[in-house]
Amino acid sequence: MNFLSTALLSITVLFSVPDKKNNKEPYREDYRPQYHFTPEKNWMNDPNGLVYYDGEYHLFYQHNPKGNEWGYMHWGHAISTDLMHWENYPIALYPDDNSEDKVNCTAYSGSAIVDEKNLLGKQKGDTKTLVAFYTSQNCGQRMAYSTDKGRNWKKYENNPIIPLDEKDDARDPKVIWHEPTQKWVMVLYRKSNDSDNSKGVSFYTSDNLTDWEWKSHIHGFFECPDLVKFKVENRPEETVWALFDGDGTYLFGNFDGAEFTPISGKMKSDWGKNFYATQTWSNIPASDGRTIQIAWMRGGEYPEMPFNGQMTFPSELSVRHFPSGYKLIRKPIAEITSIQKNILDIEDKNVIPGINDNKVKKASGDCLRIVGEFDLKTSDNFGFLVRNSTKKPGTEILYNVKRGTLSVMGVTVPLLPIGTKIKLDILLDRTSIEVYANDGQTVVSNCFTADPKSNGLVLFSNGGELGIDKLDVYEIKSVWEKKD
Ligand code: FRU
Repeated sequence: MNFLSTALLSITVLFSVPDKKNNKEPYREDYRPQYHFTPEKNWMNDPNGLVYYDGEYHLFYQHNPKGNEWGYMHWGHAISTDLMHWENYPIALYPDDNSEDKVNCTAYSGSAIVDEKNLLGKQKGDTKTLVAFYTSQNCGQRMAYSTDKGRNWKKYENNPIIPLDEKDDARDPKVIWHEPTQKWVMVLYRKSNDSDNSKGVSFYTSDNLTDWEWKSHIHGFFECPDLVKFKVENRPEETVWALFDGDGTYLFGNFDGAEFTPISGKMKSDWGKNFYATQTWSNIPASDGRTIQIAWMRGGEYPEMPFNGQMTFPSELSVRHFPSGYKLIRKPIAEITSIQKNILDIEDKNVIPGINDNKVKKASGDCLRIVGEFDLKTSDNFGFLVRNSTKKPGTEILYNVKRGTLSVMGVTVPLLPIGTKIKLDILLDRTSIEVYANDGQTVVSNCFTADPKSNGLVLFSNGGELGIDKLDVYEIKSVWEKKD
């Protein structure tokens, strides 16, 4: 071997040493969430077309197949049987009219349903037709359908189903079945006149999925509406409707199939910085009966990653009546228990400030679920540091007892104790922290980018003693395991 080839060999060896700084293995990258949905590569924003059919949950999403920035919207597609392990499928919807434009006639957000009664007349055999409603940006509201359980999609031949009105900026149709009136209802973000003050949600109805009649408009909404009927958990005879805005805020009200009458002010379903474009799954069987929601974690950062965008962990939504009125409750879906492994279990212990006794020292990691019930005792404030190391302090989740507030990454929200107790259910993934407090009454979802080498967990109390009634820490297994 001459000098040149020896030198070349050593250069090759040098460069083939695995990149410790940033793991490049697909689905193992440093900033790749391990149990939150991300596209394999390129840009993703809103969840679209969420529909359950024949044992499968479909997740479509706003997707730019050309790169890591927004634009050229298509509907990406993934399928799961448990809402956690996703199988990627080919792109479902392409821009219309062979558009190569970044915006015009691209496939913006929308929803999907099962055509139970074969209203479109497209059904093949016993397999029901899946129907997607989407905005073809600047080209009207449109429809597409699949006769093979979502594998292949065709555009409806008489599109658009609601023609473009250049002044109303309409988009993001969400279609639901309204049992009492036996009609399909579409909620659509739009302006009802030229003025920006008229931004809101219009309600349309249809008997056949193709002809839509405008019924009413409600102001004060912007993008990605959703309309959901809830049974009130602690008042079994009562039901109430919730109308969601794109940022997850919601109003309770009555809905007669044509008009929504609010009975509450607007409330927040998430206080974090990264929660947007919520949508619930349609067609979940009555035997299951859950309302399951997912949202885009808008604004997350994924340095040097092949993808850009992640979804929240799916939440189960319910409504409870409190002395102050109805309230939305959000909890991580129960399926999470099948990917978690208990690594720490503490009961009836005290955290005493000032002594070096981190009770959760053994539970390090970048994918954790931390479920605790704490007795405030004499503590002034307490909390966790996640992804901590001696070199770099971790990210703090802090409950301030005196103020009655929870703070995570610069977001501070009111949180009153239940008696003297605070409950926290924290989902930590590589680029997100979702804190569900007091049994899902208050939720804060944030994205973050931690130092890849810092995996420590710290529990602290300041000012006085904190009681741990119960604390379980679970390691969450990667849902991409089977890719190995
Ligand atoms: C919300 C949104 C929608 C639109 C889509 C385009 O994030 O602006 O209103 O349909 O994104 O990607």
